[in-house]
Formats: sequence, C-alpha cells, structure tokens
Amino acid sequence: MNALPTVYFYDQGVEARDFTDEIVVGLSKTQKTLSPKFFYDEKGSQLFTEITRQPEYYPTRTETQLLRDHSSEISQLIGEDFLLIEYGSGSSEKIRILLDSLRPSLYAPLDISRDYLAQAAEALGREYPWLEVHATCVDFTVDFELPFESEKRHVSFFPGSSIGNFERSDAMEFLSRIRSLVGADGGLLIGVDMKKDINVLNEAYNDKSGVTADFNLNILEHINREYGANFDLGRFRHEATYDVAQGCIQMFLVSTCDQSVSVAGHNFQFSDGEKVHTENSHKYTVDEVLGMAVDAGFSRAKTWLDEDELFGVFYLYSE
Ligand code: AVJ
Repeated sequence: MNALPTVYFYDQGVEARDFTDEIVVGLSKTQKTLSPKFFYDEKGSQLFTEITRQPEYYPTRTETQLLRDHSSEISQLIGEDFLLIEYGSGSSEKIRILLDSLRPSLYAPLDISRDYLAQAAEALGREYPWLEVHATCVDFTVDFELPFESEKRHVSFFPGSSIGNFERSDAMEFLSRIRSLVGADGGLLIGVDMKKDINVLNEAYNDKSGVTADFNLNILEHINREYGANFDLGRFRHEATYDVAQGCIQMFLVSTCDQSVSVAGHNFQFSDGEKVHTENSHKYTVDEVLGMAVDAGFSRAKTWLDEDELFGVFYLYSE
C-alpha cells in the first residue's frame, strides 16, 4: 500500500468572470436574486462551518450522529471497491465519520470553493494515507463530467441537505443526473432535512449569535471583492422565514434604505425594504424523498431517521 498521500487536484474552470453575467441577470429581475453558491468563498465556507456549530442549527449534528450510529450498516449496503464522489465536500468533515468503515478505493470531493477544497483535500490525504483523493473544483449545479476515469463502481455522497437548495423539480433532475452518473450498480447516500415544527426551523436560520446573518451578508462582501461591486453591508439586514406552502426556508437580504449599488459596471436601485433573495432551503417528508428517488430512477432505498425525525439519511440504489 502507498504510504505517501496521493492527492490530485482538478480545476474545472470555476473563474470569477464565469459568474458576472449570472449575477447581473439575477439583480436585474423584479425579485432581485443571488445564487446561494456565491455564499461559499473562503470566509463563507468558514462561516457555514460556524453555523453548523450553533445550538439552533440541528441538521449537521443530527446527520453526523446518524452517520456514526449506522456506519457499519451503510458500509454493508454500499459494498466494496468503489469510487466515492462527494458533492459540496467543504471541509470534508462528514466523510471522516465514514471513511474507516467505507474504505472506498478512491475519494472524489467536488466543491466550488477552490482554495478551501484544496486545503481540505491535502489535509485528508495526510490523515488517510491509504486513500487516493481526486479533488475537483466545479460548479456541480450545472452539468459536468468527472475529469478523471475510474473503472470502479460509483457511489455518490450528498450530505447536509444541500439538495434543499434546489427547487423541487430541479432536485429531482439533479438526482436523475446522479443516477446516470453512478449507473445501475451504483448508489447515492444523501442527507435530507425533514419537515417539522415551524419554530424549530425558523430558529435554525436565525441563530442568536448572528452567524447565519453574517453568512448571508458575506455574499455581498464576496461579490464586492470578486465582481467589482460596492455593496454597503451596513445597509442590508438578514431575514429568514419558513414558507409553509412551499415547504422551504427563504432567505433574503433586506435593503434598509433607498440606495444605489454598482456591480460590474451596472447600476442597481434598491428601495427601502426591498429584498434580495439569496437562498431557499427545502424541507421534505420521507415519502417526498422516496417519491423523488423513484422518479430519478432509483428502485431501492434504505432510510435512517433520528428519534425526533428531524433529519433523514437515505441510501438510494437500484436492483
Ligand atoms: C448547506 C444548503 C444545507 O440550507 O441549511 C444554513 C445552508 N443557509 N444556514 C441549509 C444554510 C443558512 C444549508 N445548506
């Protein structure tokens, strides 16, 4: 076995200029909008990690506990000798829980935050010298191909309920894309935040320490720096509320006065109280997840829930 860490890094051209048009188009809409993927510059990735440690933010610790409690059953279901692809690996913290029992032949973390991903991959390679790591910086919300080939069975890992950022129909399509990537002998291990008491949901996105507010506002700092904008962070405030009809948390930045902001040479007017939409975080019932899985082409599923049914981990596969 190779004792030296084997870490490969691939850059799929996630460059600042690629997103300027997307930002300008989003801010030109009647309902101004910025994609949640712009949260994740280095500081945003750090702030998200901080969110996961807030007492109100139950998803991460609940999912972590589920993965811990069921790691041997998960690993039995998945089997041996496979390529493990993680979508939005961030600090690669969650996969550490599973690596010793899963023992994948190859681990392929995908993330949009290049430097954060590179550091995480290096650290993981040092910690798990037996593991071959193929890190790819990519915007996986659009169609992409893996930049390397592997004959191994493909298993995807999509934890954290990041699936919740997609609109419901897009979520199903995303699962279909994963289903075609992993094929009939592959699978998907996915974490999904469940529908629950509205107060629990609202508190999770309005933590008392204000970390979620900082995370939300940081999107403006990121855009100032990378896309030549002059947002004044003191003139926007964080808002997050659960919309029962849509079954999702909606996050906004609310302008606290009439103002004009320049972004990449374009001028945008914000009226007092006008909202910029930054994120939807959809919540699901178990039946909704399983329905979506079937529509996406998976025929078998195993479900693990915590006792309060706050969060679900699902292994979706085919027969
Ligand atoms: C990473 C998308 C799962 O929706 O809970 C946390 C992001 N936003 N607090 C979520 C987030 C505000 C998070 N996801």
